[in-house]
Amino acid sequence: MENHFFHKINGVNGELILPGDKSVSHRAVMFSAMAEGISVIKNCLLSEDVLSTINVCRELGAKIEVKENRVTVQGVGFKGFRQPAKELNAGNSGTTARLISGILSAQDFPSVITGDESLSKRPMTRVVQPLKEFGADIIASENGTLPVKVFPVEKLSAVKYALQVSSAQVKSALLLAGLHLEETSKIIERAQTRNHTENMLSLPVERIGEERIISVSKKYYPSANEYFIPSDISTAAFFLVLTLLSKNSELSIKNILINATRSGVLKILREMGAKIQIENIRISNNEKYGDLIVKSSSLRNVPIDEKIIPNIIDEIPILTIAGIFADGVFEIRRAEELRKKESDRIDSMCGNLRRLGLEIEEYPDGFSVKGNVSEGGITFDSFGDHRIAMSFAVLSMLLKNGGSVNNFECVSISNPYFLNQINTISL
Ligand code: S3P
Repeated sequence: MENHFFHKINGVNGELILPGDKSVSHRAVMFSAMAEGISVIKNCLLSEDVLSTINVCRELGAKIEVKENRVTVQGVGFKGFRQPAKELNAGNSGTTARLISGILSAQDFPSVITGDESLSKRPMTRVVQPLKEFGADIIASENGTLPVKVFPVEKLSAVKYALQVSSAQVKSALLLAGLHLEETSKIIERAQTRNHTENMLSLPVERIGEERIISVSKKYYPSANEYFIPSDISTAAFFLVLTLLSKNSELSIKNILINATRSGVLKILREMGAKIQIENIRISNNEKYGDLIVKSSSLRNVPIDEKIIPNIIDEIPILTIAGIFADGVFEIRRAEELRKKESDRIDSMCGNLRRLGLEIEEYPDGFSVKGNVSEGGITFDSFGDHRIAMSFAVLSMLLKNGGSVNNFECVSISNPYFLNQINTISL
């Protein structure tokens, strides 16, 4: 397990092209594996999480070839998956485990989904329970976690189901099960979560007041396609904050996904006073993307509305780093979902920030941070969580005496190229 030391940097300058978006890459691989014929995915993220999806799809019979960041998939067509020879290992990836549960519920063979130690602690009942509403024969472990076992049933039935948790993974699992039925299912969400599944499959979405009602049936089952994956805004967020907080700095980050259900981090940083411009806006596979230009800025903390939480859930760790250098108190509430991520991110953030001598108030659903950051020179715990590791790497690069992050290799879950990218842009 590698302990990585980060020196204080003198600034940021240059241009970055980041790998493809993680959520969109998972979905492009799954939809291509489901479709009949050959699909090509350009700028696919090849991080450990997406490799877990690729491996699971291969086990199920899709032929997948990876060359640099271009992935070619020979998909199996409707109900063409075959019974896997072994358990399907989703590794560290919640998106793989949960989305594949929806697909497997509709197959004519039994299967078992497993994962690594961290994923094996994360809740699966949230997806198992609603899949049972379709008539699926699916069970989680006694603790409601992996392994999840799926058994074939004669036929699923269409549902009308209102999501009980604000989770795009749960929503997507249900939509993927619904793709296997002639009859229309309706999935209802109150808080808008990331909408890549509906976008990429062109599913009809009706808005009634606060509710979004998504319809799905076999009519929308994916066909072979050519995908271009815009670069990941969640990965870009680390470089945005590093640039904003460094003196005399400017960075351009190309082709960043700016889907409105993902760009809350830009909205909040701008409200905090961040100088971020978006240029050259384009669309690919129904997803909007553009180039970001970011400059050093003085930041002040702003209230973070509960409604935006699902939209910034993965960026809260790095937003906290921005918050501790900003005027005023950084506070995040109504974000209990943070406790269900790759680590308990409320605990991980508070633990590390206490090491830095900051005053922390921890709540069941969030935390607040006050005080002045010390000179650093200490070791932070990554908790084996890629987003915690990168957040404290960014913080270390801003501290007079730098800082270390343990088990830093876990960043390869979402961005195996982080250290190279930092070398390219830091002064
Ligand atoms: C994801 C949804 C979110 C997010 C995760 C990716 C997805 O999880 O945190 O990194 O690709 O659908 P939840 O659905 O659990 O909120």
